[in-house]
Amino acid sequence: MRKIAVLTSGGDAPGMNSAIRSIVRYGLSQRLEIIGIERGYQGLIEGDFRKLNREDVSEIVQKGGTILKTARSDEFYKEEGQRKALENLERENIDGLIVIGGEGSLKGAFSLYKLGYPVVGIPGSIDNDIWGTDYSIGFDTACNNVIDAINKIRDTAAAHERTFVVEVMGRDCGYIAFTSGLVSGADVILIPEVPLDFPYIIEKLKERQKKLKRHNIIVVAEGVGSAYFIGKQIEDRLGISTRIVVLGHIQRGGSPSVLDRTLGTFMGIQAVRSLLDKTYGVIIGWQSNKPVSVSLEEVVKNKKRVDPKLYYEVESIL
Ligand code: F6P
Repeated sequence: MRKIAVLTSGGDAPGMNSAIRSIVRYGLSQRLEIIGIERGYQGLIEGDFRKLNREDVSEIVQKGGTILKTARSDEFYKEEGQRKALENLERENIDGLIVIGGEGSLKGAFSLYKLGYPVVGIPGSIDNDIWGTDYSIGFDTACNNVIDAINKIRDTAAAHERTFVVEVMGRDCGYIAFTSGLVSGADVILIPEVPLDFPYIIEKLKERQKKLKRHNIIVVAEGVGSAYFIGKQIEDRLGISTRIVVLGHIQRGGSPSVLDRTLGTFMGIQAVRSLLDKTYGVIIGWQSNKPVSVSLEEVVKNKKRVDPKLYYEVESIL
């Protein structure tokens, strides 16, 4: 293997730049040529390639987003798009590809692998919904962003004795809501993995009213449904002043946390090693505090979601 490429795809995630940096620097140390593909699979189809040198990845470790840019490419998921992608890789004599991205992007990586191309994936998504890894790059920073926001919301909630419904991202996975809600002292956490139970929410808030707790923080994962609808139900049924905050893309930005930089750094090195060792068709996951190889087939076949048992277990501390 002499020349490898890297792309970032799907939603950007803080820490992706750490992975790019270690792929480039470790790859160069192994005498590989490294090609950066811009705008994910769309750039792969359009041949948007550039050579990456050591200095191209200087001063990026502290930055969120991705220096390679990213996109959600519909074209790549058609046979024609994948054919064009392979043609471009072959024309440029690229021997292997590292894909940094979430569930959909890793499905794309598996499609290329099934067509016979050497591919290794790195889980990069704030949602933490990728099977085979304890963490995906970006999740930790996103949770820190949520915690920071909730700390601020709590000040005004307490001052006005209001209830806040805070909607967080995660698509159909509740990890961001569950983790950040737990550690920020939320009073109610709603995730798509467990059925929405209005009578329970109302009962819990009534209990709090009895204890003279006059402000509440309810963290709701976007996969549960509209935070506005939930807020309206609470206001109508309890007559308490309620406000809605949809945190949105603010969760995806900012300087990556220690964990996300660490994941990016070690997963990047391991992904290059995997290509050099001819271990293709895998992702580099993170289990028990170290990088591990997990088959892409397993990753795309399975879904990682919050265990409802764990949710009900910790309920008593909310
Ligand atoms: O997958 C990451 C994520 O941020 C999800 O949590 C969210 O539902 C989605 O991407 C938003 O996508 P977009 O940035 O394309 O609106």
